[in-house]
Amino acid sequence: MLEVDLNKHFTDLDNRFDARLSAVFAVRRTEVSAETTGFSAKYECRIKTQYQKDLMGLLEEGMLLAVRNFKAKKYDNKRFTLLEISRIGPEHFGLRGLSDTSYYPYQFEIIEQSMADWDTDDKATMMIQISAIPLNYDLIISGYEHQYVKGFTYPIVGERVYILNKNTIHRMYNRQLLQELGLPWDDNKIVTNSEARKDPRIGTIKMFQEEKEPIPIYVSYERLARYHFGVFSFTGGGKSNLVSNILRRMLYHTKDTKIVIFDISMEYPFLLQDVFADTTINSKIITETPVADAEHFRKILVTPRKFEKSDISDPLQTIYKLGRLGHFVDGSEHPPTYDDMLDDIKRLAEDEGKKVVNLNAIVQIKMKLLQWVKEHKLERSQIVSKEFLDYLQTEALSACEKFKVWNRGGLYGWASTRTELATFLEPSEEEKKDEDSYTTEMLVHLLEGDTRLLCLSIVEPSVVKQLAITLTSDMLRHRKREFQVDPQILFVFDEAQEFIPAYDKARGIDSACTQRIETLLRQGRKYGLGGCVATQRIAYLNTNALQQLHTYFVGPLPRPYDRTLVSSTFTIDQGILEKTLEFAPGQWLLSSYIATGMENVPIFITADNSETELEKFLSTKQNKLSS
Ligand SMILES: Nc1ncnc2c1ncn2[C@@H]1O[C@H](COP(=O)(O)OP(=O)(O)O)[C@@H](O)[C@H]1O
Ligand SMILES: [Mg+2]
Repeated sequence: MLEVDLNKHFTDLDNRFDARLSAVFAVRRTEVSAETTGFSAKYECRIKTQYQKDLMGLLEEGMLLAVRNFKAKKYDNKRFTLLEISRIGPEHFGLRGLSDTSYYPYQFEIIEQSMADWDTDDKATMMIQISAIPLNYDLIISGYEHQYVKGFTYPIVGERVYILNKNTIHRMYNRQLLQELGLPWDDNKIVTNSEARKDPRIGTIKMFQEEKEPIPIYVSYERLARYHFGVFSFTGGGKSNLVSNILRRMLYHTKDTKIVIFDISMEYPFLLQDVFADTTINSKIITETPVADAEHFRKILVTPRKFEKSDISDPLQTIYKLGRLGHFVDGSEHPPTYDDMLDDIKRLAEDEGKKVVNLNAIVQIKMKLLQWVKEHKLERSQIVSKEFLDYLQTEALSACEKFKVWNRGGLYGWASTRTELATFLEPSEEEKKDEDSYTTEMLVHLLEGDTRLLCLSIVEPSVVKQLAITLTSDMLRHRKREFQVDPQILFVFDEAQEFIPAYDKARGIDSACTQRIETLLRQGRKYGLGGCVATQRIAYLNTNALQQLHTYFVGPLPRPYDRTLVSSTFTIDQGILEKTLEFAPGQWLLSSYIATGMENVPIFITADNSETELEKFLSTKQNKLSS
């Protein structure tokens, strides 16, 4: 039985859990935990539990425990060290004593006999051993209030071990967030709903899931986007499902957060069809080639297996009629930037610089160019202006005159044709006519306007990568220049291995892409630009980029190397991480430095299923445009 004043906070699973802390070990860790990554426990705790037949079915890895610690005296004996269960093992005395060298029939006899024991409450033959790691938090209880103090206090060996009950977990993770969201907080009754519009939760906590009322789990969408997040699990683990679930709720439960999805596998028009068909949210799907009609649209979409036979013509018609579709045009020639001009000059110096006079002229032209960039406070990656081209031509020609450059040579030819580039600065007549076509500049424009969801469903890697490069650098530059942080924009990279490969694996456009996105993640936070990275293989990714993520969702990663990398990059305990291998699609280990109610305390969750949301949407006729 629990002490009366503790049973409000802890549970003994209806008198089943009776456990003591039996040992605390120091463990050596090689990885150093950074400020923004998970905790790295220096200790491991061993707990022995009296056997009870139902207990094995109730205990779970990830459950949170409390043990009185050496600072408890000063706090009316109510200061506890918090632990998280990383491993559970039932033990049978008879089996433990069984030696491999004993007479074989005797071995079988003992093993068979032990079978029946597990169904008894025999505390003399069996017990349950638990390994747990400190969360580096103390819990202080005073009256009905909880206070969490960061830091590790040595727990008292021999003390009783308590399991945090449902209300305590709910309060610990959700109370502050619910208050931030302006939602009611009730200590005695958990009110929650899986429908995205009704409840901003992302799913439920896995602990106590067997009970009628699950505990919801909330995150701050604001901080999730601003401080970047990652989703890691093998293919089929539910990454795209989770990402679409998060994005849907982000759109419904933030004031004005905007989202750009780099959808290289064409999944999101289906996964977010309810949002695209929503007249209250401005959105756009950009495809690679023009889409003729809703039927054509259906054919190019990737559909989850469950929906392969579903009739989704109504929502697709709606999406089509709402003018949500557009296609990308490259702008035939990419408009020149100041960087391009400097590249030209470098090449001229190589090709034409053998004559000294040419070289003198080239140096002067370069000086003039840099002077313009400086005076106008420009960045070199910006697209040049028409005024600049006029200026450049005048200055280049006067340099040629001054140094008496041969007027039939390549340098002179270059200098006298700069204003010709002006034609590349504007979309061609053909492009102007086609109103569903979008150049990169027009996409930037959409984002600066009231479009909240922009889905770039383009399967051609080189095209979507080039877009990722230009769109992220344009937005970052724009924000820097305007000192602007609002509204928040989240850039989503599903299949992130395509966008942020490790430098030694990246060539050409891949190298530029990984570099740009790393810059976005490094600097974006200050300017309200966030990133989401989802991938099945983190081994060959740009680690600098990964280190910028402040929140991670980890599902099953079958390769040990990937798990080791997650464990060391984000300092999540390997023991806790191994548990994810048993997860079904939609179950995640969630750890966050900033976006959940508990900093860096990993928790197992079940995400709400986007497909359920879609089924509901398809069954009610809200998907039809009322006209
Ligand atoms: N939260 C969830 N609850 C239940 N099933 C899920 C959940 N998330 C995903 N699934 C199942 O897993 C399948 C694969 O999900 P998907 O998001 O496409 O995985 P990934 O992007 O990791 O390859 C889905 O079609 C769905 O059936
Ligand atoms: Mg996917």
